[in-house]
Amino acid sequence: MDTEKKVAAHYTHGALEQTILDTLRAAGKDVDRLTATDLSSVDEFHLGWRDATIAFAKDLRLATGARVLDIGSGVGGPARYFAEARGCRVTGIDLTPEFVQVANALTRRCGLADKAEFREANAAGLMFEDAVFDTTTMIHVGMNIPDKAAVFTEVRRVLKPGGKFGVYDVMRAKDGEVPYPMPWARTTETSFLETPAAYQRLLAHAGFEIESETDRSAFVKDLAQKRRAEAAKSGAPALGLHILGADMKERLANVTGALESGLIAPIQMIARAI
Ligand SMILES: C[S@@+](CC[C@H](N)C(=O)[O-])C[C@H]1O[C@@H](n2cnc3c(N)ncnc32)[C@H](O)[C@@H]1O
Repeated sequence: MDTEKKVAAHYTHGALEQTILDTLRAAGKDVDRLTATDLSSVDEFHLGWRDATIAFAKDLRLATGARVLDIGSGVGGPARYFAEARGCRVTGIDLTPEFVQVANALTRRCGLADKAEFREANAAGLMFEDAVFDTTTMIHVGMNIPDKAAVFTEVRRVLKPGGKFGVYDVMRAKDGEVPYPMPWARTTETSFLETPAAYQRLLAHAGFEIESETDRSAFVKDLAQKRRAEAAKSGAPALGLHILGADMKERLANVTGALESGLIAPIQMIARAI
């Protein structure tokens, strides 16, 4: 099996739409009248969740009417936020067929189908014409991509000159053994962590100038601490990423441990197409 098939198999749940809808109903939500915010505890598959997406959109200065491509869009949480809160027209692409189907279904339920749509594709071979997007985003996807140079070259091709590329990935921060399973990969077979220096080099080579680099480690640790305190006080919330699978608890514990020990860091980079 090639890497892309293994990555898609890793993320495939099998009954994800039903699980999300059942969980929302149990939490008292009307699943026929959803907003992007109702879904935000179950559709943001990255460290810092919705808060990190808000900070990212702000730093990217996403503006009304901007055409945004979200690479590795998952079930569409960030894309729906960009559409609903920032007024962007968003196209998401993702390798995992179930995620693409669920992303489109949830987007219809939120009444956002005219502003956000999702298609199945590999980021290394995009189906779009040259220079069509104002901004491209890639949130917690690079860890699954062995050939980041190929993806960055494709992103540069589909961006308008001067367009922004926002990357928010888990990167390797120091040497040492990273524990598995992780949320993005159960083994090293589909995990390709790189250092911020490697991202900088590959982005420059693909035709980008890096405008800013932000380490979100403290931001994420602080949020996680607040969630733990809230859970200790009021009990574990019904809505959360634990619905993604039986081993999610172990995967989240591993990523938290690696973050605490400084082995990995969630890094946001904003680059401009030159
Ligand atoms: C950790 S999830 C993040 C999803 C989303 N960006 C979010 O933050 O909610 C990683 C996603 O990247 C997708 N992915 C991994 N490699 C990809 C590739 N080469 N092309 C397109 N999507 C890819 C996976 O299918 C998965 O949906």
